[in-house]
Amino acid sequence: MILITGGAGYIGSHCVVEFAKNGLDVVIFDNLSTGHSKIVENIQSKYKNVIFQKGDLKNKSDIDLVFKQYKIDTAIHFAAYSQVAQSVIEPGMYYENNVLGTLNLLNSMVENNVLKIVFSSTAAVYGEPKYTPIDENHPKNPINPYGKTKLMIENIMNDYDKAYNLKSIRLRYFNVIGANYLENIGEWHDVETHLVPNILKSAMKSDLVFKIFGTDYPTSDGTCVRDYVDVEDLARAHKLAFEYLNRENKTNVFNLGTQNGSSVKEIYNKTVEVLGQEIPLEYVEKRQGDPAILLADATKAKTMLNWRIENTLQKSIKNAYEWEKILKNFN
Ligand code: UFG
Repeated sequence: MILITGGAGYIGSHCVVEFAKNGLDVVIFDNLSTGHSKIVENIQSKYKNVIFQKGDLKNKSDIDLVFKQYKIDTAIHFAAYSQVAQSVIEPGMYYENNVLGTLNLLNSMVENNVLKIVFSSTAAVYGEPKYTPIDENHPKNPINPYGKTKLMIENIMNDYDKAYNLKSIRLRYFNVIGANYLENIGEWHDVETHLVPNILKSAMKSDLVFKIFGTDYPTSDGTCVRDYVDVEDLARAHKLAFEYLNRENKTNVFNLGTQNGSSVKEIYNKTVEVLGQEIPLEYVEKRQGDPAILLADATKAKTMLNWRIENTLQKSIKNAYEWEKILKNFN
């Protein structure tokens, strides 16, 4: 069986479906602090090979119980806080939840002789880009506590490999968008800060003006450029990483992005085009800590994992829109 921590969250839930639909048995472990029980219900209504175990990684006994109860052979680890701005304001919460929580998970794994993990890391480990596109060897200099927690965990995993032979694949995501709305899952944050859902929410609520943060970045149209990768493509990459780990039994790291940059303005224009409607727009001050350009060099994932991107930007936005309509009925 596969343990998926944070499986009730955005990226985690898409991975649960990817593994479950391929016939693998999954245990979701989630404290539901940012994940949603409704997402778990939606998955379980279709996939009978998915079990849900509520628990918190900060309590080691919660996760010990899972390893005692189920025969887990690999962990896919998403459970974490992931809001950059919040991590600056409340760093302690991030170090405790992300780093301590992961330590409990890793210790429990070692004690139970489960020695394979796929870890949800982030482009935030690189910090301000020194060159672009960013490959896996780019210097790691995170500029916020969120990115620091993820880098600390990667380093801890290296030490656990040396000491206990625990093999890890770290997947460093760039900007994740889209939704598997046909499975009734998608992005659902109680406080939404991300670009695509914010544009869509403005499209669906006439008094909510979408704001572009900053217009004088050194890019072609003055707005920030990011590498937007579809969540279903990302979920497939986790399955490929899991297979790589089983085949090679080696620790490794892969960037996950498309290497195609889109500016904020381009994403806004594309959304207007996909929806076929005007969306109220306002230009405002820059947001603190946004680098001008973040682009992935994902050659390694493409060659070593044989990862292929299937969803276009247009498709991802359309899927995210269909999901927003479903989500509106949940709230
Ligand atoms: N933006 C707007 N208006 C909004 C929301 C976002 O103009 O309402 C802009 C941002 O300023 C930024 C771009 O859209 O230029 C993308 O912003 P997001 O908040 O969607 O994503 P980030 O690039 O800030 O963050 C993402 C992940 C983080 C991860 C980081 C890695 O969400 O978890 O990439 O660098 F840490």
